Amino acid sequence: MPDAGPGEAVVKVQACGVCHTDLHYREGGINDEFPFLLGHEAAGIVESVGEGVTEVAPGDFVILNWRAVCHECRACRRGRPWYCFNTHNAKQPMTLTDGTALTPALGIGAFAEKTLVAAGQCTKVDPSASPAAAGLLGCGVMAGIGAALNTGNVQRGDSVAVIGCGGVGAASVAGARLAGAAKIIAVDLDERKLEWARSLGATHTLHAGSVDVVEAIRELTDGNGADVVIEAVGRPETYQQAFYARDLAGTVVLVGVPTPR
Ligand SMILES: NC(=O)c1ccc[n+]([C@@H]2O[C@H](COP(=O)([O-])OP(=O)(O)OC[C@H]3O[C@@H](n4cnc5c(N)ncnc54)[C@H](O)[C@@H]3O)[C@@H](O)[C@H]2O)c1
Ligand SMILES: [Zn+2]
Ligand SMILES: [Zn+2]
Repeated sequence: MPDAGPGEAVVKVQACGVCHTDLHYREGGINDEFPFLLGHEAAGIVESVGEGVTEVAPGDFVILNWRAVCHECRACRRGRPWYCFNTHNAKQPMTLTDGTALTPALGIGAFAEKTLVAAGQCTKVDPSASPAAAGLLGCGVMAGIGAALNTGNVQRGDSVAVIGCGGVGAASVAGARLAGAAKIIAVDLDERKLEWARSLGATHTLHAGSVDVVEAIRELTDGNGADVVIEAVGRPETYQQAFYARDLAGTVVLVGVPTPR
């Protein structure tokens, strides 16, 4: 690992989740820039920073995010940094001992003791938070809660269906609950995930292997379909279910990443 260059930070990783996107990388489903350094759902302590870094300092407890925003482009200037046109990661590559450059998954690469990121990828948080929990905010929780609260704009009293209740879907269930949804229908193939979804606020659960998912969601929503359907699997059949299970006046949010088959 090179020393932190201008605008960069070295972070000592304390915990990193396994997001399904890491598995897509492993299969070559995202791109073919092997070898990858996987892991992108992490929290840790800043160990050192390069020249010009002011936003974080050694010792700070941080969550890592995919890309640093530029603060200067037209999206950033409109106060919408999530649409930043000029996001960036660390400039210098991390390498294998023989010098082969690694591609860090989503510009993070946290399945390692330390990782090199752009300082703007570090979001300082309360150091009393558990690293294993805080790290999840870096991807699955952000994507899932964001799908419900922001993209899906779930409102009080809405009916919401979440297809796939892994890390992302479980967070969507929690987001729908936070927004005050009246009906939250969780769909998965795994009973354990359905149980967890219930503990996070699902009012109904459907085992995708035992029922017709679209029919069952329609039945639970007076025949209309759900106001917001969140797809958190990434397969053609579940994309299709999401559209058919939606109320005509409703919204579909596709969070799952489609992978070539
Ligand atoms: N858009 C984003 O920002 C973003 C962020 C994180 C992950 N993702 C993508 O979201 C998807 C989910 O990620 P994850 O980390 O939650 O994965 P995960 O493996 O934790 O969860 C996927 C869940 O889907 C369930 N499932 C599989 N097939 C199903 C089917 N036919 N019907 C219903 N449920 C089914 C699995 O049992 C599992 O519980 C992946 O494609 C991942 O790449 C997108
Ligand atoms: Zn992820
Ligand atoms: Zn920008």
